[in-house]
Amino acid sequence: MKTKVTKAIFPVAGLGTRFLPATKSVPKEIMTLVDRPLIQYAIDEARAAGIKEFIFVTSRGKGALEDYFDHAPDLEASLRKSGKTDLLETLKETNMDSGAIAYIRQHKALGLGHAVWCARRLIANEPFAVILPDDVIAAEKPCLQQMVEAYEETGGSMVAAMEVAPDKASSYGVLDVAQDKGNTVSVRGMVEKPAPGTAPSNLAVIGRYILSPKVLNNFNKIEKGAGGELQLTDAIAEEINQGRDVHGFRFSGQRFDCGSKAGFLQATVAFALARPELRDELHDYMTQMVSMQNAAQ
Ligand code: UTP
Repeated sequence: MKTKVTKAIFPVAGLGTRFLPATKSVPKEIMTLVDRPLIQYAIDEARAAGIKEFIFVTSRGKGALEDYFDHAPDLEASLRKSGKTDLLETLKETNMDSGAIAYIRQHKALGLGHAVWCARRLIANEPFAVILPDDVIAAEKPCLQQMVEAYEETGGSMVAAMEVAPDKASSYGVLDVAQDKGNTVSVRGMVEKPAPGTAPSNLAVIGRYILSPKVLNNFNKIEKGAGGELQLTDAIAEEINQGRDVHGFRFSGQRFDCGSKAGFLQATVAFALARPELRDELHDYMTQMVSMQNAAQ
């Protein structure tokens, strides 16, 4: 019987340089799409997939992120006093069960692979999920839940994948596909940030993973890869060298790269337009802006 996936790692120790100066004091993961921080979307997705233990790999300056998951007694008392029960209800989303959340420190931003490896002692010998909160996925069924269901059939390790234009492949980890089975593909290799024109396919890895705990041992076997960092992609690819299964999973939904300014803005517009109380006003404003822009050209 396969072990259920109940642990997830959230690597949040990056410097977020693309959002400087904001990220000088505000963790990127606390930046909001409409009124909810990126991390809330990631936590909701993990909960929907059955995750019970939430492991954050953090760093200096991420205190606001840790506070976000605490109770706020003064605020809660004030809302209760003024009868704002709907807002009290909203705050409940941010509360975690006692002991469900753990913080591990990455002492230096040595890359995503290193951040995941930092959590190895909390993972022990179970399969685990990894969620990058700056990849936000709008989907009818949350992406990680789709993956957990597929993983129950495949086992091994699984990475979320999406088709990208050939000229964009060099920004991603790219799958070398052995067999395409529709939603899942079996993988015979993975390349992190392939040189332009050398990508083995147009299926790029994005920030959702379900990994065998053996991937964590692979960090002892691999060399530093693209960008001089220990790459998560290389540690997963090592599974294939060891004869174990790795699958790509084509998820249903729209992924926004909220680690980039353009992606963050697109997500803001998309999530705002999905809110009934904002949709009409925003739609009218955008229509007006577009006609003004067109008239000015
Ligand atoms: P990014 O590649 O987006 O890097 O990391 P970054 O530092 O967050 O942002 P930029 O590129 O400087 O603007 C992808 C994910 O991996 C985490 C980040 O927090 C983000 O969730 N990460 C990255 C770490 O936890 N540690 C690292 O050393 C690097």
